Amino acid sequence: MCGIVGYCGPKNCTPILLDGLKRLEYRGYDSAGIGVESEKGPLVVIKRVGKIAQLRAAVPPTLQGHCGIGHTRWATHGGVTDTNAHPHQDMSGKIAVVHNGIIENYGPLKKKLEQEGVRFASETDSEVLAHLIAHYYRGKLEDAVGNALRQVKGTYGIAVIHLDEPGKIVGARCGSPLVVGVGDGEMFLASDVAAIVSHTKQVIYLSDGELVSLSASDYSITDIDHNPIEKSVDEIQWDIEEIEKEGFFCYMEKEIFEQPDSIARTLSGRLDIEYATGKLGGLNMTSRELLAVRRVKIIAAGTSWHAGLVGAYLLESLARIPASAELSSEIRYRNPVVEPDTLYFAVTQSGETADTLYAMRELKRKGARVLGICNVVGSTIARESDGGVYTHAGPEIAVASTKAFTSQLAVFYVFALLMARMRDLSFIQGQRFVEELQGISAKVRETLAQRDRIQNLAKKYYRARDFLFLGRGIEYPVALEGALKLKEISYIHAEGYAAGEIKHGPIALVNEETPTLIIVPRDSLREKTLSNMKEVKARGGPIIAVCTGEDEEVKAIADDYIPIPAVDELFYPFLTVVPLQLFSYFCALELGRDVDQPRNLAKSVTVE
Ligand code: F6R
Repeated sequence: MCGIVGYCGPKNCTPILLDGLKRLEYRGYDSAGIGVESEKGPLVVIKRVGKIAQLRAAVPPTLQGHCGIGHTRWATHGGVTDTNAHPHQDMSGKIAVVHNGIIENYGPLKKKLEQEGVRFASETDSEVLAHLIAHYYRGKLEDAVGNALRQVKGTYGIAVIHLDEPGKIVGARCGSPLVVGVGDGEMFLASDVAAIVSHTKQVIYLSDGELVSLSASDYSITDIDHNPIEKSVDEIQWDIEEIEKEGFFCYMEKEIFEQPDSIARTLSGRLDIEYATGKLGGLNMTSRELLAVRRVKIIAAGTSWHAGLVGAYLLESLARIPASAELSSEIRYRNPVVEPDTLYFAVTQSGETADTLYAMRELKRKGARVLGICNVVGSTIARESDGGVYTHAGPEIAVASTKAFTSQLAVFYVFALLMARMRDLSFIQGQRFVEELQGISAKVRETLAQRDRIQNLAKKYYRARDFLFLGRGIEYPVALEGALKLKEISYIHAEGYAAGEIKHGPIALVNEETPTLIIVPRDSLREKTLSNMKEVKARGGPIIAVCTGEDEEVKAIADDYIPIPAVDELFYPFLTVVPLQLFSYFCALELGRDVDQPRNLAKSVTVE
């Protein structure tokens, strides 16, 4: 979605802003701009549709300044044009504002301002902020921003500069993330630490309702009524290298191949070998409270929802707890029944997904205990949940989620083990489960060795217009995930289905031109899935099977197959998803798609 970066300090801010915007590129956007308090006097605002390279080309090398703000826009109100890009300015040209979020009441605010003689340059909701701040400005930017924000309904993360107060940035947040970077004699403001981690690792995560004022050497945080707020400075736990491509063609490829390590990081310190159980300190729940849980409900979106579906299956089969995973965008507008002995999980890579955040808030209002499974440390959902688990997958830059998924699975496996050991699972069974989990990274690595075979299959099949993805039981969510991956990065139409469901409709789609990718590992449903394969084959549909090793029965039916190592049947999702990720990736490459930034998508969906 949109991204913000700001700098004040002794260095020239222009390259810092442009590099920061480049680091935010992964979040998905359509235009970008910077506003710089130039050394020569005026506030220089430059905005361009397209990639950061286009903006960079438009910025004169002579543009120097010590304070500025930048923005990447993902259009909501108003088309994708240079004028609609941020920063927006007031009529005097002294104020520049960048804004993430949506101003819901911009219509009446705009009308009122226009009646006072204000002329708007853009079609955006965000521009009202610049004029509103100008309306309230009496010499102190913090006051004007506070007064303006009191009029606003909606969500925002903003950064504002004013030429009459050079070297100062005022930021505020409500529903859209903002983080202060504390440097040595310099300060940063960003919507995402990725934009500033190359400069400082000392950060302060702002909460909703907070306003920050930055100068090169100082910061002060208050609420919107200017009451001071004490905040702790946190240290970012990862390095800039983690957001470099490190020799891979793109971030998605890097992140797929990183999975053996990211899964190991998720599991690190969370398996109690002595008692053959899981250890998850951040849940903030006593054993007694965990024992009293009668039901688990998982809320999430997209890939995180698919991980939740696997988690629900696992909790039910291993821990014998009724569990379900629901789409947060759906639960949000229902009137969900919250029972006291139900435990909720909000699963999210970014920790900022609006649907999941608002669903979580609604559940909490109804008295639910909601734990988070988040990747981004300090994210809104991580902070607002009642406790939870960080996945520690490391920064995920590619829009298509891969390593976050397998790390979310790893958390569910540890949690299910913990719950199962408190209930029916014996010590010996627990030990076996722990051993299997400890070995899973190595098996994922083995699966990744199928890279070349999968690339060849992509070369064979990428011209197909439609694809079916089928799986049963715990593999059904993996089929959904495979179809989602293919759709989002290659733009090939794909449907994920429970294999047993095809005869209830989707089999009508099967013909020589529509390949079916079937997940058929050696599990207790294999015979049933083999029957589904035969049904597809009988109707002339080409089949690619993901199967355990050299499975002769599968090979006899399928046109092509991708072998994966053998594991205990509950663990297959870690392995079966990998060929599907790689297959989508290679299809997208064949089609010349922008793998890391597919069209119309954003990494973190902070709007409805
Ligand atoms: C798919 C993808 C999306 C996200 C979804 C939820 O590859 O990335 O479907 O999974 O937008 O995002 P988070 O997990 O950040 O809440």
